[in-house]
Amino acid sequence: MRVIETITKRLSSYLEDKRILEVACGDSEFSINALKYAKQILATDISLERAKRRNLIDIVENIEFKEMNATKLELENDSFDVSVCYNALGHLEGILNSVISEMSRVTTQNGYLIFIATWKMDQKVLLGIENIISKHGNLTISENIDNKSYNILIIKKE
Ligand SMILES: C[S@@+](CC[C@H](N)C(=O)[O-])C[C@H]1O[C@@H](n2cnc3c(N)ncnc32)[C@H](O)[C@@H]1O
Repeated sequence: MRVIETITKRLSSYLEDKRILEVACGDSEFSINALKYAKQILATDISLERAKRRNLIDIVENIEFKEMNATKLELENDSFDVSVCYNALGHLEGILNSVISEMSRVTTQNGYLIFIATWKMDQKVLLGIENIISKHGNLTISENIDNKSYNILIIKKE
């Protein structure tokens, strides 16, 4: 089983029948693998160039793709059950506070923000997230999964 399949299976209870937002989706590997669990998926990135290069927008049904800056999501408040950032933390490091604020804004109360890192670069940034979320009164760490090949931080929006 590929790591991403193991990860989505591990997260299935958070994904099942839920409205999922992925930020900084790139190749959209997470969204594609979450499809078998989720009710609805919106995959966003500041540039959908990678998804277009792989022709994903045409061939993957049931995922909506939209170009969007993760620091300024053009989405309603409380419109997703779960917001996910997979393997993109290294690219978002300098803007992480705004990204977390936006992910939190669009996530419904009692929903989850999920950060996943399989690369060393992203795993390092993941360690700093606990500091950032301590400044958000309505976010608490729900699970911190530290595996040999991946790290996952699951944050609950109270
Ligand atoms: C490592 S790459 C791709 C990660 C992706 N999750 C994957 O598995 O392919 C990081 C992505 O972050 C995106 N990105 C960088 N800054 C962004 C921003 N401000 N808002 C949204 N996406 C951003 C890049 O366009 C790139 O696709």
